[in-house]
Amino acid sequence: MSKRAPVVVGVSGASGAALADRVIARLIALGHPIELIATPSARIVWRQEMGRPWAEALAAWSESGLITEHNPNNQAATIASGSYPVHGMLIVPCSMGTVAALAAGFANNLVLRVADVTQKEGRRLVVVPRETPLSTIHLENLLRLSQRGIRIVPPMPNFYQRPTTVAEVVDFVAARALVALGVAGELDADQQWAGLELD
Ligand SMILES: Cc1cc2nc3c(=O)[nH]c(=O)nc-3n(C[C@H](O)[C@H](O)[C@H](O)COP(=O)(O)O)c2cc1C
Repeated sequence: MSKRAPVVVGVSGASGAALADRVIARLIALGHPIELIATPSARIVWRQEMGRPWAEALAAWSESGLITEHNPNNQAATIASGSYPVHGMLIVPCSMGTVAALAAGFANNLVLRVADVTQKEGRRLVVVPRETPLSTIHLENLLRLSQRGIRIVPPMPNFYQRPTTVAEVVDFVAARALVALGVAGELDADQQWAGLELD
């Protein structure tokens, strides 16, 4: 087991379950311990979008020995306290409900509580917000998060690399989010812009 401080991954009920799936797979491949929280809505979206229950995915990831799952209602979990050492937190995908609660500093579930703790401890917090179109209230809330130093990594396709599958786009966004969190030093070589020569 790695001695590195774990990363907290919060999965909320926005569309984009595949993004969480890919982030978790990448963290496991990096050998990074994960403290995992999925909201009740995240589990509903997971079944819809991944075609299998959350528990099944969890069982597969748990074979790595790197996963600690938490009940989203357990405000007494280790990670609910700033005294518990973690590297930072990623919320992927992040619903507009969770964005609004973060903007207000409202913490009535474990995802929100850990996000609150992450900020008070000065640790990195990255969100991958997903909704379209975005309303003024969504944009105002996201601005408030950005102004507090929370990194916003929306799931925008890397069109300039001409992806041909959804999986390529998902992998790119997952890699971007992990670089923003500071657990992956840089993007994979084939995900980096190679530059263009101008005539
Ligand atoms: C299939 C499905 C897809 C959803 N997609 C989104 C979405 O993309 N963005 C969003 O903000 N909410 C979305 N929602 C609504 C959220 O799940 C809902 O607002 C929920 O209360 C969010 O709670 P949570 O942030 O605690 O998970 C979706 C719900 C379902 C059932």
